[in-house]
Amino acid sequence: MPHTLRSKIIGTGSYAPRKTLTNDDLAAIVETSDAWILSRTGIKERRVAVSDSSTGMAVKAAKAALKAAELSAKDIDLVIVGTVTPEMIFPSTACFVQSELGVRGGSAAFDVSAACSGFLFALDTADKYIRTGAAKKALVIGVDKFSRIVDWQDRSTCVLFGDGAGAAVLSASSGSRGLLASRVHSDGRGWEMLYAPGAVRPSRFEDGVRAEEPYIKMNGNETFKIAVRTMERAVTEAIESSGLTKGDVSLLVPHQANMRIIKAIKERMGLADEQVVMNLDRYGNTSAGSIPLALDEAVREGRVKDGDVIVFVAFGGGLTWASAVVRW
Ligand code: UT7
Repeated sequence: MPHTLRSKIIGTGSYAPRKTLTNDDLAAIVETSDAWILSRTGIKERRVAVSDSSTGMAVKAAKAALKAAELSAKDIDLVIVGTVTPEMIFPSTACFVQSELGVRGGSAAFDVSAACSGFLFALDTADKYIRTGAAKKALVIGVDKFSRIVDWQDRSTCVLFGDGAGAAVLSASSGSRGLLASRVHSDGRGWEMLYAPGAVRPSRFEDGVRAEEPYIKMNGNETFKIAVRTMERAVTEAIESSGLTKGDVSLLVPHQANMRIIKAIKERMGLADEQVVMNLDRYGNTSAGSIPLALDEAVREGRVKDGDVIVFVAFGGGLTWASAVVRW
């Protein structure tokens, strides 16, 4: 009987810039306090890029993932980067990564734009290439450099984000391990909840259009409520479509936006603290970098064992949300 082709994660890697900004450092820039940030979000510090580009962070994470997978860049035939802070408008960050790593010229390399859900959208896309036989070994990366797009005078957003990247190598596999279910969703009607116009000038032909402030704008309180509801639904959807139940879940790797959101999902799923990966205290919200960075840390800390069932869930601007179930 023919085996089903699945995407197996055979290596992970991550990278965050060296420079740390503590809550106290931020209190010197905007009117805030360590106590407010910690109690409302769970974040203690975040990393900010001084000399790292989005491509540079992605390449470092990818190299670590390739090393863990015991593969070379020459083995990769697909590169997908989830990012909303690309190196340039074009070419894609994936093209830069492809060339810097030495992935074969002519292989497919492109970005996906889904904000904080970017890594799971990239994973979902790569999985479809792998299951159809269009790719055998894929490099899936989530990277964001929000330090470039936050308004450092807006205390309601600048305290939340950090820079970072994570990567996973997927291999076509016919066993029972790998990606069991993946679901992605968008609802553009909610775009104004969370967006960043970017530094694009109106052209000389556009009538009455003024350049908007390029920075992130967020309705935090509304986004929070929608995120909790939506992520809880997304987790249930992915588990049900994998044919498993909540009781089968070994580890939850959620998007790291807010400790209170993660705790709500944990309680809804009936998971113990040690079954939930949380590293936002040290990195803040790294957008598309968040899930693969958290996964890589969990793997390197020995929290992920062969056969474990891992659930991923993300929510972000778009609005976008996604979930996935992996048997490790
Ligand atoms: O990653 C994509 C998805 N993003 C998210 O999921 C983020 C979701 N949102 C959140 O995490 C939370 O809404 C925040 C952490 C952003 C804010 O927490 P909140 O409990 O929703 O607070 P709030 O926005 O309702 O603000 C409460 C108060 C306000 O003051 P008043 O109007 O009550 O006097 C804010 O001005 O806190 C004030 N505030 C601050 N105070 C000190 C807002 N930011 C700060 C700050 N320091 N940094």
